[in-house]
Amino acid sequence: MSFPEGFLWGGAVAANQIEGAWREGGKGWSVADVATYKPDADVRDYKTHVSVSSDSIKRAMEESDCTYYPKRRGIDFYHRYKEDLALFAEMGFKVFRLSIAWTRLYPTGEEEEPNKEGLDFYENIFKEMRRLGIEPLVTLSHYEMPLLLSLKYNGWTDGRVIDCFVRFCQTCFKHYGQYVKYWLNFNEVDSIIRHSFITAGIIPDRCGEKSELSCCYQALHHQFVAAALVTKMCHELISGSKMGCMLTKLMTYPRTCAPEDVAATQKKNLENMFYSDVMVFGEYPKMILRDLEKRGINISMEPGDLEILKEGTVDFVSFSYYMSMTESVDPNAERTPGNTVLGVKNPYLESSEWGWQIDPVGLRISLIELYDRYKKPLFIVENGIGSKDILEPDGTVHDAYRIDYFRKHFQEMEKAIDDGVELMGYTSWAPIDLISASTNQMSKRYGFIYVDQDDLGGGSLKRIKKDSFYWYRKVIETNGKDMS
Ligand code: BG6
Repeated sequence: MSFPEGFLWGGAVAANQIEGAWREGGKGWSVADVATYKPDADVRDYKTHVSVSSDSIKRAMEESDCTYYPKRRGIDFYHRYKEDLALFAEMGFKVFRLSIAWTRLYPTGEEEEPNKEGLDFYENIFKEMRRLGIEPLVTLSHYEMPLLLSLKYNGWTDGRVIDCFVRFCQTCFKHYGQYVKYWLNFNEVDSIIRHSFITAGIIPDRCGEKSELSCCYQALHHQFVAAALVTKMCHELISGSKMGCMLTKLMTYPRTCAPEDVAATQKKNLENMFYSDVMVFGEYPKMILRDLEKRGINISMEPGDLEILKEGTVDFVSFSYYMSMTESVDPNAERTPGNTVLGVKNPYLESSEWGWQIDPVGLRISLIELYDRYKKPLFIVENGIGSKDILEPDGTVHDAYRIDYFRKHFQEMEKAIDDGVELMGYTSWAPIDLISASTNQMSKRYGFIYVDQDDLGGGSLKRIKKDSFYWYRKVIETNGKDMS
């Protein structure tokens, strides 16, 4: 058993969680700039935690301070990217997944021409990566759409946003096609149902007659159409390019073998994969359409939309995997939080400090399930554990729990590869500590590299190598042969 030659080992981040410099280089407002730090929020209720209103956005826009808006400051990657890339190169990264902030290129989302400073910023990053021999994997949309499109059109609920996004992507392909071969369209496209504002700029109090859920499905349809259009365009503009979809793999097991639990679980898993189904097969699954109809949700489609979906299918399937959960029809079953979801607790699994259930075998099951279903190469583009690491007085960070988490997941990946799964690569989330997407905390640390910053922005921002840094370097160096 071994990882294939040329296996793409690396790490993944998103612009809004690392860059900072929210008002530099001509950048416009993005939805991430109004995301607030809420230390007291109940993590079991993400929906309330991430909800916004027209009023809360207005208040955030009047506030120029960053203290309670951590994504505005990130970890200052904007100014320190050379140092950070050098550390990734030192770990031996073959690939680095990053996103391009739409608002650096198109500050409002509607300009005719891109902002030169923004264009140069990413070009410099790609040049540096080329120099270091690191392959870029670029996400076109990762929770950072222009806030002004959200305010003007209620985000992706309006089909005009498709044109804005296509223009942005065309610019990316034309300018960066010489550096970037691997692309992802929408990060965790399924997440729109869980946090409609950060994924699609939907402000619930602007949905009018429609329910927020109906708005979500309409916006989702627009994202599917946009994804298909830019996939086709990417193939036309960059020869040999590969476009992937990106799914939150929410692995769900039945809590018991009672047929009702199994049926409820089947429904959950089918719903989870519906998003990648559309992007891989180029059509909506009939049972999902039937289910929407039964729930009174009507998606309005333009003539030609279904043909567009057919013509723009993806080349590979990427996904994030952090945890698994179970499902039960018992209303009293004990629940536990996962990645922006609430699931039923699995008595066989341990959990992270945030309650996410750690399940390496679930990663193998996911790989086999997705490969069997899609028969496309797979790419794990997020996987990792958030924890409260301790910086010792001597400047070290001993994160044996992180090493243990990764080792067990890598062993399961190896088994899936041995079973015949075609796995292109693996990017951990995140190679360097950054601002958490769901809680906006800095203290929820994922990195191999510690960043000296606290939740309210205090600290030197110094980068410090954790024990896991040296361990991951060895794993990459031996292409997974040495995980000791
Ligand atoms: C994924 C997102 O869902 O989970 C990332 O794509 C996010 O942006 C990651 O950071 C981990 O979640 P969190 O909330 O712990 O940052």
